[in-house]
Amino acid sequence: MQSMDYGLTEEQKNLARMAREFAERYIKPVRAELDRESRYPREIIQKMGEQGFFELFVPPEYGGQGLSVLNVCLVMEHLSIVDGGTAISYGVTGLGAIPLILFGNEDQKRRYLPPLARGEYQAAFALTEPWAGSDASNIKTTAVKKGDRYILNGQKKFITNGGEAQFYIVIAATQPDRGVRGLSAFIVEKDFPGFRVGRAEDKMGIRASVQREIFFDDVEVPEENLLGREGQGFKVAMMTLDRSRPIVGAQALGIAQGAFEEAVKYAKQREQFGSPIISFQAIQFMLADMAIQIEAARALVYSVAQFIDSGAKNISKAAAMAKTFASDVAMRVTTDAVQVFGGYGYMREFPVEKYMRDAKITQIYEGTNQIQRLVIARALMREF
Ligand code: CAA
Repeated sequence: MQSMDYGLTEEQKNLARMAREFAERYIKPVRAELDRESRYPREIIQKMGEQGFFELFVPPEYGGQGLSVLNVCLVMEHLSIVDGGTAISYGVTGLGAIPLILFGNEDQKRRYLPPLARGEYQAAFALTEPWAGSDASNIKTTAVKKGDRYILNGQKKFITNGGEAQFYIVIAATQPDRGVRGLSAFIVEKDFPGFRVGRAEDKMGIRASVQREIFFDDVEVPEENLLGREGQGFKVAMMTLDRSRPIVGAQALGIAQGAFEEAVKYAKQREQFGSPIISFQAIQFMLADMAIQIEAARALVYSVAQFIDSGAKNISKAAAMAKTFASDVAMRVTTDAVQVFGGYGYMREFPVEKYMRDAKITQIYEGTNQIQRLVIARALMREF
């Protein structure tokens, strides 16, 4: 399908093309199997590392190509056209890199970013707890200072890349009586004694990604692994999410595009009442509406990504808008794609039911769309 130009550079167009080609070549042949078996695509992630995809999360001084939210969005979109699950397995390493770039000191960046750029280290972001989902500051994991280390105790929930990542950005309470101001961020390595992962979750969609609980039993974290200052943990988390939410928007956009492409192909080839169903206005209007919504989501995601890359300061509202709009579009478009396929759409044998299952999570994670609307409304109340 022809998309508009959006003023992308030749380099950015090549990046998008490369991601799509990679996904068609390496992910498409196995995506149904990964989905059926709910399997983390380790070999594909390794290949992405060899081909330099992780360099997009890292500044040049640390072996990367420079973090551009737009470039990451382009890659996420084009991987997700084929498989949103594999895409998020890749994207979450970026979610672990962002707080390091924003708050890491020179030593922390030198230790963790070069291997991440080479694809040797995967990363994860551990904010959510069983009792702290939308209410993200209600964190019970504690970090108590003892000499030159912090002792972590507690648990995290639904951690994408849990068990696969070599290091985790963990938000824990250093001063539990100070609420949101008593939270701090730490870089915790998988090999630190007392770090343990639980079983992998059995999910509706994005089954080529892994989410696990994480347990901390007296995990000793050296003080040099405190990220930012004590008390800055919630800020670290929120500023990270401000940059990663449009990336989830791009994932949703890709899922919508993938389902749409399947629906158009099918409508041209499926015959009923003696004609291809695309000749019926009922189907034409559905496809037209899907195309409008996808293009609008693309325009918003790209422009918000550019806005963030420009160094703008107040980005929370825009980031929340991109994520909300694109994920709501993904849910509607994938549902309509199943409808275009009729009974076949409901069957596992055809790819569209998977797009619909994969789309759902984009309205939930990185903050539910209700929380995004709250972020947007709070910004509006400040602005007017
Ligand atoms: N940037 C900087 N600081 C921020 C901020 C931002 N975007 N948002 C809030 N803060 C600061 C505030 O200024 C405030 O600081 P002060 O106390 O110094 O004034 C402090 O943080 C508390 O802010 P709020 O009063 O707004 O906090 P709140 O408790 O009302 O919560 C919330 C705000 C928006 C609801 C937040 O809890 C939230 O975003 N919840 C959703 C959680 C979420 O997105 N989880 C995603 C998990 S990761 C994931 O899903 C990844 C994956 O698997 C792929």
